[in-house]
Amino acid sequence: MDPLTFPYAKQSINENDAEAVRQALFSPYITRGKDVEEFERSVADYCGARYAVAFNSGTTALAASGFAIDVNRHDRLITTPNTFVGTLAVGWHEGAEPIFVDIERETANMDLALLEKMEPFQSTRGRSIYLPVHFGGIPIDLGRLNRMISDPEALIIEDAAHALGSYYPDGTKVGSCYDSAMTCFSFHPAKQITSGEGGMVLTNDETLFNRLKLYRNNGIDRSSPKSETYPWYYEVKAITGNFHMNELQASLGLSQFKRIDSIAAHRRELMKRYFDKLKNEKGIRLVKTQDLEKISFHLALLQIDFEFFKKTREEVMNKLKEKGIGTQVHYIPIYKHPFFAERKTDLSSYFPETETYYKQCLSFPLYTDLKLEEVDLIVEALLGILNNP
Ligand SMILES: Cc1ncc(COP(=O)(O)O)c(C=O)c1O
Repeated sequence: MDPLTFPYAKQSINENDAEAVRQALFSPYITRGKDVEEFERSVADYCGARYAVAFNSGTTALAASGFAIDVNRHDRLITTPNTFVGTLAVGWHEGAEPIFVDIERETANMDLALLEKMEPFQSTRGRSIYLPVHFGGIPIDLGRLNRMISDPEALIIEDAAHALGSYYPDGTKVGSCYDSAMTCFSFHPAKQITSGEGGMVLTNDETLFNRLKLYRNNGIDRSSPKSETYPWYYEVKAITGNFHMNELQASLGLSQFKRIDSIAAHRRELMKRYFDKLKNEKGIRLVKTQDLEKISFHLALLQIDFEFFKKTREEVMNKLKEKGIGTQVHYIPIYKHPFFAERKTDLSSYFPETETYYKQCLSFPLYTDLKLEEVDLIVEALLGILNNP
């Protein structure tokens, strides 16, 4: 298949990245070496968190955060249906039950006003684990979420796969873990920066930090005093798996991370261009956020009233594709996937905002190498298709 001229997302690799990977390739350790440590230190310092642990994917990072808090089948995962299934890796395998909260249309994030009415989740068993997803890069008001939770056993784990480089409304950086137990990032190639595949968990809690490292390394613990006497000695404290990020991935991630602020700034300019070109178009809704300057955008999300334009979404997507423009739907609501739908009755009537949003959402090209003038071409093509009878 020919690559699209403007895919909806793609990585941006420069010569410095290539050189960094080359150096890693010829370094003494091509896994568990200095680049992994430096990548972790850099992201932790940038976000203002004490600790960071790198993993082989964002999904693994989320699963590791569940392991760190010893998630179990009595716990509840309170989250948005408008997310990638990886969010549920925090506790699905351990039997924790997801509770979905409808979204608000302005940002397509979990609706905190609605959640406020639902909280506290009364139960004699288990904990409430809140999993906010900072959708498209726009963070939820985490301070507000933290303040509204009255249950002292409840925990917040952020799925910040979309939001590296963003700030919460109070001006703190996503990843500071000031209002959460842990924040999880993804470095998939569609994200702001990539390590090929990769993820990271940030925390300020030393116990969680040690549990995260245990999870990553087959449950192996070398902290026993016996290891000082017997250099070969270690203890297995849990059966987990090998989830390391290797040096090749870390060298790429670290090299990319060095330009996170300029990447975020350029993506913001691209979004402003989309907003500018589309702000007066009837039938098209743009995401709303109080302060654009605080956002590191992952997705160029539009909500298009296809009925208003007397078009179907698939028709519009296919015509855009013919013109070399890639689009994507973020997301099919989680409860609609057969895996969940077959276990439950149809949940759609509980989520009216998600349902309307799902009918209308479409993500347009947004990547670091995209040029401002190219946004004009994309918008022109879209309006041409929508307005042509
Ligand atoms: C919201 C969200 N959570 C989790 C993930 C999982 O990240 P990864 O693809 O790195 O496993 C993604 C990535 O696509 C995501 O978009």
